[in-house]
Amino acid sequence: MAAPKIIFDCDPGHDDAVAILLAAQHCEVLAITTVSGNAPLALTTQNALLMCELAELDIPVHAGADRPLLVRAAHAPRAHGATGLDGPPRPEVHRSEASNDAVGCIIETVRGHDDVWLVPVGPLTNVALAFRQAPDIVERIAGVSLMGGAVGPGNVTPTAEFNIWADPHAAQIVFTAGAPVVRMAGLNLTRQLCVGATESAALRAHGGTVPAFVAELFDFYLAGYRRRTGVAAAPMHDPCAVLAVTRPDLFAFTARHVDVETDGTLTRGMTVADERPGTDASPNCEVAVRIDASPALELIVEAVCSYR
Ligand code: BDR
Ligand code: CA
Repeated sequence: MAAPKIIFDCDPGHDDAVAILLAAQHCEVLAITTVSGNAPLALTTQNALLMCELAELDIPVHAGADRPLLVRAAHAPRAHGATGLDGPPRPEVHRSEASNDAVGCIIETVRGHDDVWLVPVGPLTNVALAFRQAPDIVERIAGVSLMGGAVGPGNVTPTAEFNIWADPHAAQIVFTAGAPVVRMAGLNLTRQLCVGATESAALRAHGGTVPAFVAELFDFYLAGYRRRTGVAAAPMHDPCAVLAVTRPDLFAFTARHVDVETDGTLTRGMTVADERPGTDASPNCEVAVRIDASPALELIVEAVCSYR
């Protein structure tokens, strides 16, 4: 089977960085687009370029939105450090972005190719802007496979997950645009796929620049997660959105109608899934509810170890 064609929209981010490596192994990555999220846009773009350079990936990186549609920009230094990719010593980056027009890149790439999956793993600003500016692309894509939201507890607030909370208006546009498929890997799912000391050790034992770099990313990410939660293993959120395209057989999905709360004082950014028995709300989303974690983890470690 041909590798799925994707546009990977991200805000690296430790788990975004791992997802880039995984996606490049199993997909035809037509472009990487960046967005303000875990860190300001200049840093998330540099981080995407850094990962491409380190892994010798020939993928154009297009910088996108430097702020959400309506709310104030917020970042996640507690999880990812001030640079968005704290931990390993930072190598010099020699590459530059292909453009500052991620939205134009998404539109033109979708118009120029059949069956493109959009795989956003940061705030949904770029995708929402592309859908707004070029509604024709909504039906042309194969689907959207996103990391975001939660059916259950959030992380940035009791009810909201960071990517959706950071730009709730963009998220509501994406969920309700009428895309052929919207696949949601929310926290209820990604908390089932955790990395820990075993994975760090496996990468170190394998050797090589990229595995060693990712082992140090894991160490930083795990230490922060342990400080905040007391738990030693941390969710690898963003690779789940890639796996939901490349290995949907590892998942169980439930069709639900999902809306995003844009205004609630307590619930801003909540993904409200209609789970009422007998509801007549027609589903707009395949909510991922289970992942077979051990083969998924193996795929992630294998992908990272395939780089020098
Ligand atoms: C999401 O927010 C970011 O911190 C991660 O990269 C992931 O995309 C998890 O809530
Ligand atoms: Ca992310």
